[in-house]
Amino acid sequence: MSDFSLFFDFIRNLYHAPQKDFIPLHEPRFLGNEKKYLLECIDSGFVSSVGEFVNQFEKEIAKFCGSKYAVATSNGTSALHAILHTIGVNQECEVITQALSFIATSNAIAYTGATPVYVDVDLDTLSLSPTALEEFLYNNAQKQENFTINKHTKKNIKACVPMHTFGHPARIEEIAKICKEWNILLVEDNAESLGSYFFKNGIKTHTGLEGIASALSLNGNKTITSGGGGAILTDDEALAKKLKHITTTAKVPHPYEYYHDMLGFNYRLPNLNAALALAQLEQLSSFLQSKLEVAKSYEEFCNKNGIEFICAREGTLPNFWLNAIKLKDKAQRDVFLAQSNANGIMTRPIWNLNHQNPMYKHCQNDGLKNSIYLQDRIVNIPSSVRVDL
Ligand SMILES: Cc1ncc(COP(=O)(O)O)c(C=O)c1O
Repeated sequence: MSDFSLFFDFIRNLYHAPQKDFIPLHEPRFLGNEKKYLLECIDSGFVSSVGEFVNQFEKEIAKFCGSKYAVATSNGTSALHAILHTIGVNQECEVITQALSFIATSNAIAYTGATPVYVDVDLDTLSLSPTALEEFLYNNAQKQENFTINKHTKKNIKACVPMHTFGHPARIEEIAKICKEWNILLVEDNAESLGSYFFKNGIKTHTGLEGIASALSLNGNKTITSGGGGAILTDDEALAKKLKHITTTAKVPHPYEYYHDMLGFNYRLPNLNAALALAQLEQLSSFLQSKLEVAKSYEEFCNKNGIEFICAREGTLPNFWLNAIKLKDKAQRDVFLAQSNANGIMTRPIWNLNHQNPMYKHCQNDGLKNSIYLQDRIVNIPSSVRVDL
């Protein structure tokens, strides 16, 4: 197929967008208490890292996702970095992750001094493959008494960071089992999957709860946004306390003295952003419903018109943050990208693989067969919440 005009008409119809209007990939929607809470926050004078909106947001996001604790952070990258740093990832370590991800996943690992190691993804989830993980460890790793080393580098493979790509849940229970067997700490990059679930023994379970902690992003392009922001989810009380401390410059609470008992980061979410986040969180369920309707419409259109739509894997309820289609080959992908963008319909290819960027060229990988295949074919299509639903 080289003429996608029917598809473009369908997308325009879906978003009630006349011919000349630009359709973005993902627009934020401010339809609730955003202005009210922002004004309240300004009037309170507490606009920075202390305030009731931060506390309230942490309580509500933990409740929504089903974690015992949440720690609000300045963004998703800082959330991921804070977790890795706090669990002891450092320059002596390696961290397994997927090359098919936004660059922040690798950057957060590299900020600790550790080296990312890239393992392939599954073709259906677009996320870290448990089969590839197991095979990589079998071929390259050696179990020590209570940790695992890379046979070649002798470094400790301390953690594994799978990412739920575009909100499609990875096979996370299988990944968790493998990590446990090999004494590798599991940290989920949950940046794209707020509102994504899978069924665990028949129970609807939010992503981001299988490992020691996970990181959410509230960037402007995400399902809900605080402008910039993020959150850490964990069930571990001691870790939650440490993370709150370390993301608040490790300042020991005192009415006027400044004493910091370890190296900390200024990673706390400002109250002003938390006010926005809270208002957005109140609308998350209706946003998810709208996104599900959009995905269903795409799926139906694609099925009728011979286009491969990335749909929900059995046993999962993705948030459909960014909808994606898989084109026949790179040539067809390039035609689609050129035609859609020339028509004012924003589309974009999936990321270049992390190890293709100069900072990560030296990192070990397992061949990344599926990642390379997907890189040439996957394109994101407009996925904003529809305002009329
Ligand atoms: C997979 C992934 N990881 C991490 C991040 C980092 O989040 P942030 O932009 O909030 O730092 C993002 C999104 O931006 C992401 O998509």
